[in-house]
Amino acid sequence: MAGRAVASSTRGETTTEPSPGPSAPLLERPRRSAHPRCSDPRAAVGASLVERAHRVARQLLDPAGDRWWHTAGVAGRALHARAAVPPEQREVLVAAAWLHDVGYAPALAATGFHPLDGARHLRETGWPEEVVALVAHHSGARFLAEVKGLGSALSEFDDPRGWEGPLADALVWADQTTSPQGHPVGVDERLAEARARHGEGSDLALAHALRAPAVRAAAAATERRLALALPFDVRD
Ligand SMILES: [Fe+2]
Repeated sequence: MAGRAVASSTRGETTTEPSPGPSAPLLERPRRSAHPRCSDPRAAVGASLVERAHRVARQLLDPAGDRWWHTAGVAGRALHARAAVPPEQREVLVAAAWLHDVGYAPALAATGFHPLDGARHLRETGWPEEVVALVAHHSGARFLAEVKGLGSALSEFDDPRGWEGPLADALVWADQTTSPQGHPVGVDERLAEARARHGEGSDLALAHALRAPAVRAAAAATERRLALALPFDVRD
């Protein structure tokens, strides 16, 4: 399926955004990269933000592991959720979906809190601040950070675009309606599975009372926006 020309929301350049479909990169099983730190988006001049994000995710995440397939699933859900955000933010949404879990990569693990480790790496390697903020705060990360004693560290990314508004909501929806193996799931099923997997007394369980309502609210707002989207908003 052919790509389509779009205007980059970050640089004003005209680029080509991959279209979803059987031959799209997100459905391919990726090759392992020998250069996991080679993720500076400035090294790929001319490539769209989404293409660069996809490339970095392939470099950093084990292509044989569930994390990769979860990430590919979230990117696919983000493509579906594009109609819930303004056109100029759609490329950022899909790029952030590809990048949201790169902090799990062993090469980036510093604090062990993947939103923070991922956002620090993306800022260090020159990604747009909007993408960095979305990764730092995805899926209620601020609630988990408080439990972990990393609230002040996460405040390095004190940008409300990361946790409020249609764009942040759509990323939460994409992440929290995708199973750890990359399959579509409901939000409540996803929250319950994660809590059970981490266990009672875990940081995730301790953050649940504040995090879960925020996740549900973001997902519900995205679904309302999708239900109200006009046909021309979803045709591509
Ligand atoms: Fe995720």
